[in-house]
Amino acid sequence: MRSNNITTLTDFILEKGNNHAEATGDFSRILNDIALAGKIIHREINSAGLGELLGASGVTNVQEEEQQKLDDYADIQFINALKMGGKVAAIASEEQDDILCFEGKEDAKYIVAFDPLDGSSNIDVNIPVGTIFSIFKRERKGKVTQDEFLRKGKDQAAAGYIIYGSSTMLVYTTGNGVNGFTLDSTIGVFCLSHPNIKIPVEGGIYSINEGNTELYEEGIQRYIAYCKETTNGKRTHTGRFIGSLVADFHRNMLKGGIFIYPGTTDKPEGKLRLLYECNPMAMIAEQAYGSSSDGKISILEIQPEAIHQRVPFLVGSKNKVEKALSIIQ
Ligand code: AHG
Ligand code: MN
Ligand code: MN
Repeated sequence: MRSNNITTLTDFILEKGNNHAEATGDFSRILNDIALAGKIIHREINSAGLGELLGASGVTNVQEEEQQKLDDYADIQFINALKMGGKVAAIASEEQDDILCFEGKEDAKYIVAFDPLDGSSNIDVNIPVGTIFSIFKRERKGKVTQDEFLRKGKDQAAAGYIIYGSSTMLVYTTGNGVNGFTLDSTIGVFCLSHPNIKIPVEGGIYSINEGNTELYEEGIQRYIAYCKETTNGKRTHTGRFIGSLVADFHRNMLKGGIFIYPGTTDKPEGKLRLLYECNPMAMIAEQAYGSSSDGKISILEIQPEAIHQRVPFLVGSKNKVEKALSIIQ
């Protein structure tokens, strides 16, 4: 039976806002707008098999990846929700070549970068997909230029993701711990279900696409071999790789482990994008006492040079990331 002591996402955000004398409500509004877009996407995903939204859209995006109809749909939902909310000056999206400035909102205080639908190639086969977002407080007013998005991850005001899985969950941080909310779809409300999430310091899961092993540098190959070692005839690790970053990350965060998407010989910078995949996940990980790296420095310390920049990505349990770095380097 469901407890009556529900803390809704809206209550939670309001309560946090009330703790800050300088809070104007703008930030709360943005989180609510993101939650709204998430609910709309949840609705479509849960009926995608019935609708017209399955399959490729026929468009190749700026990443030279085949866009799915739901990528485009999700992108429009997020853009509309943030535009209507009125508290965001501009957005950067995986699905948009360039940043998008909202007319009449030149003096809004926040900008948002997002991956509207992560893992979208999995949508047709009923595997969890997600949305990832990163919010920055602006340092100036006036029309936003691209360089405003090129800030280090450690400056993010908030970061989060929505996972559309066996249930839909929104997980976010404002730099004061990580909290998870599960969507009760019968009432259309995100309810606090995972307060103050902490990634186990250790973990037995390693998540990496081993199909690429021959394309990884030697250090990564050494680490994969290490994960496959046995002691007393028993495995030391178990491999889990879904191919949806949000789902792989979420599982590892709750169970403990490491996710790695390294560079390959054909793509030394890896596949995942710094601004709207790695930075937000790294902030969440570090806020949950985990760790992140590109193999050299913390993801949050990287100075971005382009909005769609890719970086090698290691993230997860603190001890796992440390150990991996010691073997790789
Ligand atoms: P997106 O669907 O937003 O382009 O991201 C897909 C990403 C990520 O979710 C996942 O971890 C990775 O692609 C898997 O890539 P491989 O198929 O190369 O393993
Ligand atoms: Mn993605
Ligand atoms: Mn995507």
